[in-house]
Amino acid sequence: TAPAAVIVGIDGPSGTGKSSTSKAVAAKLGLAYLDTGAQYRAITWWMLNNGIDVNDADAVAAAAGKPDIVSGTDPLAPTITVDGADASAPIRTHEVTSAVSAVSAVPEIRTRMTELQRAIAAEAPHGIVVEGRDIGTTVLPDADLKIYLTASPEARAARRNGELKGAQAAGLAATQAALLKRDAADSGRKTSPLAKAGDAVEVDTTELTLDQVIECVVTLVEEKRAAA
Ligand code: DC
Repeated sequence: TAPAAVIVGIDGPSGTGKSSTSKAVAAKLGLAYLDTGAQYRAITWWMLNNGIDVNDADAVAAAAGKPDIVSGTDPLAPTITVDGADASAPIRTHEVTSAVSAVSAVPEIRTRMTELQRAIAAEAPHGIVVEGRDIGTTVLPDADLKIYLTASPEARAARRNGELKGAQAAGLAATQAALLKRDAADSGRKTSPLAKAGDAVEVDTTELTLDQVIECVVTLVEEKRAAA
């Protein structure tokens, strides 16, 4: 018989290898994949395109329900559209990255995204790997497995710098400063801040290769399935 659907939540700050790990684990295990950060980036992109001041929480809240955000959950080819337009490239720009913490701190935005995320997870026939900041604590508190990835600030900045292309790469010190600023905003906000769930397994990736992190998480999922 086919194994029951397994729900995996992977949280942690940026630069810990969350996305690469989540996609690879989902692909290896035949699960769907959801990048919730991409959804927050997508709604932020829409706000910027529509002239909404991202620092005006009331204006952001009033518009929270407007854009139609659709995520494709194939881990080998994840997609995201906003009102039908492909948003995968523009959500990675510096402008969106700088504005996303302000938008994602607004409770109405979080409520809307959480509803979307729960619906996607419930529809995944074999289960799903969902990555974000509040998956284990808020979005999917009953997940079968919760992982919290960490790494030193130096390792995170080095990885993030490696991902940024050409003109976007700002130098290691600037990347580290921007990353720590965003983490502080994401951890310090009132509504569902970045936090490790009490029952999450913490994996410090500082000294691990990506393959080692993937292997570690795959093993944890397989152990959960075997015990179920
Ligand atoms: O993972 P990322 O860097 O693409 O996420 C972008 C931003 O979205 C991040 O700064 C915080 C926010 N976010 C959030 O508040 N909750 C989530 N579940 C995922 C991301």
